[in-house]
Amino acid sequence: MKKYSILIAGGGSTYTPGIVMMLLDNLERFPIRSIRLYDNDEKRQEIIGRALAITIKEVAPSISFSYTIDPETAFTDVDFCMAHIRSGKYEMREKDEKIPLKYGVVGQETCGPGGIAYGMRSIGDMLELIDFMEKYSPNCWMLNYSNPASIVAEACRVLRPNSKVLNICDMPVGTLRRMAYIVNREPKDLEVKYFGLNHFGWWTSVKDKDGTDLMEELLAYISENGYLTQKAVETQHMDASWQETHKKAKDILATDPAYLPNTYLKYYLYPDYVVKHSNPNYTRANEVMAGREKHVFDAAKAIIEAGTAKSGEFDIDNHALFIVDLARAIAYNTHERMLCIVENKGAISNFDPYAMVEVPCIVGSNGPEPLVQGEIPLFEKGLMEQQVAVEKLVVQAWIEKSYQKLWQALILSKTVPSASVAKQILDDLIEANKDYWPELN
Ligand code: NAD
Ligand code: G6P
Ligand code: MN
Repeated sequence: MKKYSILIAGGGSTYTPGIVMMLLDNLERFPIRSIRLYDNDEKRQEIIGRALAITIKEVAPSISFSYTIDPETAFTDVDFCMAHIRSGKYEMREKDEKIPLKYGVVGQETCGPGGIAYGMRSIGDMLELIDFMEKYSPNCWMLNYSNPASIVAEACRVLRPNSKVLNICDMPVGTLRRMAYIVNREPKDLEVKYFGLNHFGWWTSVKDKDGTDLMEELLAYISENGYLTQKAVETQHMDASWQETHKKAKDILATDPAYLPNTYLKYYLYPDYVVKHSNPNYTRANEVMAGREKHVFDAAKAIIEAGTAKSGEFDIDNHALFIVDLARAIAYNTHERMLCIVENKGAISNFDPYAMVEVPCIVGSNGPEPLVQGEIPLFEKGLMEQQVAVEKLVVQAWIEKSYQKLWQALILSKTVPSASVAKQILDDLIEANKDYWPELN
């Protein structure tokens, strides 16, 4: 079997150790010759890099491992770039969340004004990564987790239409793990139909490999409990605020009892509830800094101090399975069925063919081939049309440096109550993002 060379862009990410541990755990089905990390924050990446150097040397000494902030060194001779950068880091995520909340509007990493602000930061950084990849490893595939994935994907569609970039999300995979537990199956045994945008979609069918329809059983459970499960079936999405989100799926389901919703719909369908349950002085960014970030960096420091990773400080993360499976599907042309963010082109037959949608795809060496999901109902279509317009307007605003279009994007977001509130939030966001956004006309 050919051995692959992997680059992780955003090497200092809290998810990097979980992905590397997953890669090390899968070497028999996905052999690797080289793992490299790339980041633009040398100090942050170094902590993760030093700890992983110790780990890899102990587990798989034949793998060449390095970390760098030099793009040429990073991107040369790479087969797969797994990207998960956070433009502006947690410092800016905190502002994305707190500024809208000041005006009584949802403050969220990828939804509403916060997601729009993050999108305006991510577009340029992601294009830079893609250009490095194409310059130094033209045959490389980029598998991108960097958020907001919907806006990044739309930017790729418009600005890098021929690039080998595949945008993905772990939320449907995580929720499917919960569904599998609920119906007493393995996640790999479930076959689904799904349509939507990223962080904005619905399952229309869940069956097992024998064709047994599991929708009725799932709808019954989720209409009572949401996606809350008795047992911990994920390694991520476990904090109290996430449990609350899994539970809230019950109320999202009530808005259309036929389809199983993505948990992110809560920000669009119940924004008043979300705001009421948010602490404007302590948001998810604060939780993550005190939780996951501290945990991962403490683990790395413990490994460095001990000079060994034998105590098992780094965990394999569920989150990583999807990206490893995806790389494998492309590498070995497995034609596995996976949800990806792709240009619609008729997959949702009564929806904009030029929208980036999230649908099941068959993934092989040519990338993802979307599977037709057919027509969708008016309720979901209406919501999606509004949201996709937001995403397109953000990309247009970034390209044209247009204040007007960015304001329109905020106005159109279902999370924002009026044009005047949209303007106040936008003006604050411009000030907060002046080191990151293009200057708007
Ligand atoms: P993090 O801040 O811990 O890590 C991000 C890293 O990216 C940091 O080390 C930062 O220095 C680096 N970075 C920022 N800009 C960069 C640039 N221009 N070039 C190179 N490196 C850069 O963040 P995290 O919480 O670990 O999340 C990482 C990313 O993964 C975020 O975008 C997050 O939203 C995303 N994510 C997406 C999914 C999904 O479903 N698509 C799931 C989980 C995480
Ligand atoms: C899910 C989503 C990601 C998002 C993450 C946030 O996994 O699919 O797109 O980045 O949640 O999680 P956090 O723990 O950082 O709030
Ligand atoms: Mn996601």
